[in-house]
Amino acid sequence: MASPSISELSDQIESLELTTEADIEVAHIRFLSKKQGVLTELLKAIPTLPPTERKGFGQQINQLKRAVEGKISAARENLAAARQAAPTTLDLSLPGRERPTGALHPIQQTLATIREIFAKQGFTVAEGPEIEDDWHNFTALNFPPEHPARDMQDTFFLPSGTGEAPSTLLRTHTSPVQVRVMASNTPPIRIIAPGRVYRNEAISYKSFCLFHQVEGLYVDTHVTFADLKHILYAFARDLFGSDVRLRFRPSFFPFTEPSAEVDIWWARPDHPEGGQWMEVLGCGMVDPEVLTSSGIDPERYTGYAFGMGVERLALLRYGIDDIRLLYENDLRLLDQFA
Ligand code: PHE
Repeated sequence: MASPSISELSDQIESLELTTEADIEVAHIRFLSKKQGVLTELLKAIPTLPPTERKGFGQQINQLKRAVEGKISAARENLAAARQAAPTTLDLSLPGRERPTGALHPIQQTLATIREIFAKQGFTVAEGPEIEDDWHNFTALNFPPEHPARDMQDTFFLPSGTGEAPSTLLRTHTSPVQVRVMASNTPPIRIIAPGRVYRNEAISYKSFCLFHQVEGLYVDTHVTFADLKHILYAFARDLFGSDVRLRFRPSFFPFTEPSAEVDIWWARPDHPEGGQWMEVLGCGMVDPEVLTSSGIDPERYTGYAFGMGVERLALLRYGIDDIRLLYENDLRLLDQFA
């Protein structure tokens, strides 16, 4: 087949209409392709021409080449612009897509409720450090030097770095906040101190090495054990409803006298006795020694204190039977609190 003439090619190029990707590709192959493009073929033929014609012919071919390239790049730009401007097909009647949302952890939900209940009773919130010293965690709370609670078994001590006996520890309870608040305030004092505490204990369905407590402290003139019972009953009824059952058992803490532990009845239909008592807090009247070591006159003031276990309360509140579930971050549990 005879090659088309330069002027034929020029007309063809002039009238090219490139509107789709396919048009562009076809034009590229026809004119520019290295293997079979018409213009490439013509360029290859140059050496067969008489030397005087070669230069002019080459220039004409190159002009055609630039014309095709110009058409192709203009077509590409048009396509890109059209793609940008194209309206997306929007169906406004489609229902929205649901996204998974997070929620407060059941421990945090329980803590928030506890805070609200005590706020209604006039308690403000105090805080203290989780890394404590021996003085605030033990000594100021009247723990004798050889008290077993100081034992390595219960307390996570922090290495001193100097080879000496460790002097800092992870607080084992929120009671050191009592000491800090009493040392820097004068009565009347009415605070709760929520926070994390740590114990090097055997882990079970009701004990974990890390848990939350809410400490309570009320110091004023004429505070009695009856006030303590009142506030704890009011609290339990608010959290669990008016038919909640509480049991006060005599107990011992170095920093309260007298002291008690409080259990709450956990009704469980599957249990042989229909339920069980769950210990949820320790409490008592602030020991005069503790008032004195914090600079408060025990002749003038008395006070009560309590420390409750938040996880235990959450187990009762939500009917969860193993504290470890609260620390596994299993979405099958957490989703139920969203
Ligand atoms: N700190 C005690 C504990 O961790 C609880 C407690 C607090 C007891 C305040 C009496 C008064 O078990």
